[in-house]
Amino acid sequence: MTRFESDILAEALEIVKLYPEPRSATIPLCHLAQSIDGYLAKDAIEHIAELTETTPAEVYGTASFYDMIQLHPVGKYVVGVCTNIACMLQGGYELLEEVESTFGAAIGETSADGLFTVEEVECLATCDRAPCLHVNYRYFGLLDSEGVRKLKEDLTTGKIEGEVPNHGVLSRVKRHAPELISMKEIDDLRTQEDKLKADRAAGKGSGNA
Ligand code: FES
Repeated sequence: MTRFESDILAEALEIVKLYPEPRSATIPLCHLAQSIDGYLAKDAIEHIAELTETTPAEVYGTASFYDMIQLHPVGKYVVGVCTNIACMLQGGYELLEEVESTFGAAIGETSADGLFTVEEVECLATCDRAPCLHVNYRYFGLLDSEGVRKLKEDLTTGKIEGEVPNHGVLSRVKRHAPELISMKEIDDLRTQEDKLKADRAAGKGSGNA
């Protein structure tokens, strides 16, 4: 891929409209692209730059700062094993080894069937369930060898397909402005704002000086 097409482009344009400045939509659009491809492809970076009135370098610079945005192809499921202090004390490194052998991929690699990419991650803020991991940002904790084997089986057979979304889908509920305020109202507000800026630039002021 891929530039945004048809319905996805409409969604992207709606997201851009949610922000006072188009560039503020950069990260949400990165997640949108990633929810489709699993990672942020070069074409998608270029299209996001157009939509946010920035440059591909700026989009790349923003995206590359965040671990949650993948810049290279990954498996259908990204499995991130926590080895931070609480998990480490509860067997986090043993869990990581178990995941590598069960899922068939070393850290940073993708299994031969293209299903799983394994990562080592920092604290997932679910320390009370150490040792734990996430799969596409859905958490699984208190895992032992049997738990890892069962998790792989459930993912491979699609048993928990509804629980674990595509990679890049962060929120279960899509941000959707018209539920709070119509896009027409947003457009009207933008028009008023632009007029205000133009008046200020022309030295008319708001009378509050
Ligand atoms: S240390 Fe692993 S979730 Fe906090």
